Amino acid sequence: MRHTTLGDRRVSALCLGAMQFGSTTDPDTSLALLDRFVDAGGTFIDTADCYQFWVDGGQGHESETLLGRWRRERGVTDEVVIATKLGAQPTVSETGEKAPEGLSARAVATAAERSRRRLGMDTLDVLYAHCEDPRTPIEETMGAFAELVSQGAVGELGMSNHHTWRLERARAATATHGWPRPRVLQYRYSYLQPRAGVPLLAGGHMHVTPDLLDFVRAEAKDGREHTLVVYTSLLSGAYTRPDRPLEYAYDHPGTSARLAVLDEVAGETGATRNQVVLAWLMDHDPAIVPLVGVSSLAQLDEALEATDLRLSTEQHARLTAVH
Ligand SMILES: NC(=O)c1ccc[n+]([C@@H]2O[C@H](COP(=O)([O-])OP(=O)(O)OC[C@H]3O[C@@H](n4cnc5c(N)ncnc54)[C@H](OP(=O)(O)O)[C@@H]3O)[C@@H](O)[C@H]2O)c1
Repeated sequence: MRHTTLGDRRVSALCLGAMQFGSTTDPDTSLALLDRFVDAGGTFIDTADCYQFWVDGGQGHESETLLGRWRRERGVTDEVVIATKLGAQPTVSETGEKAPEGLSARAVATAAERSRRRLGMDTLDVLYAHCEDPRTPIEETMGAFAELVSQGAVGELGMSNHHTWRLERARAATATHGWPRPRVLQYRYSYLQPRAGVPLLAGGHMHVTPDLLDFVRAEAKDGREHTLVVYTSLLSGAYTRPDRPLEYAYDHPGTSARLAVLDEVAGETGATRNQVVLAWLMDHDPAIVPLVGVSSLAQLDEALEATDLRLSTEQHARLTAVH
């Protein structure tokens, strides 16, 4: 297993997404996937307090509850870092994404407490703001986050699905007040790129932009490192599965050009398309931690094997150069 840094901690360079665990992936399979991931050296797991409210019968706490059970039953130690998110859980069931709890100081304090209880963790390893809350000034959210850190309720802070200008506004607020800054960022990203400005089918997804990458690089130069985690890294299986066609945003000439080079490199390395994509992400500049969502041991094993795949500098550059 390769490793990377997250704040002051060392975590696996591959993060396991637990979004479907306990709901669309049944509890036994979910527990088996978690066990296998940790046996293979995986130490970074991703969830949220709203997974998966949108599926039939879903309430939104199934994933955290399953992870809490797994931690308890297996006696999981602090070595396994669990990141969760708040802000996107609906206030009223059935309203879906229309009325999220948001990021007010009150919502943050209440949701963090619920997550700690469900996960059975005194200190949440990583807590992200899941998505923007335009009704709440970012200073209020950062102040509430700082309070959680000072209470020992949270270790690292993160932001997901926020425009870069809001990240900068959050950074400025934390610098002004001497609060801890969010050091973990989470966005959608993969090897294939959607056309800029074309809406993604998943309305809540925010894609990595050149602007965001520039922000992360510039911040690092000033001594403020981030860990950039990316979701939907395997495009829900679309790299290899005919039953998962790419959505409209990926319908442009750059897609076929990139797939051709992807196949070239897969042929040279003897790896699968998915593995080359994950290896390309793990050697990205700036550094990236890919999140994978899996529903079977075979899918998990394919992703785990990618952590042993090292692309040559030339192969990585060849993949990157195609647009
Ligand atoms: N911050 C956010 O807003 C946000 C948004 C989305 C996701 N996430 C996080 O990111 C994680 C992953 O997200 P995602 O589910 O969108 O990502 P993904 O990894 O692109 O897609 C996961 C799905 O792809 C298929 N798949 C995975 N590995 C495969 C393989 N080797 N071969 C063929 N098919 C394969 C499986 O579909 P089947 O199960 O149908 O076989 C799997 O459920 C989530 O669990 C969650 O933690 C965060």
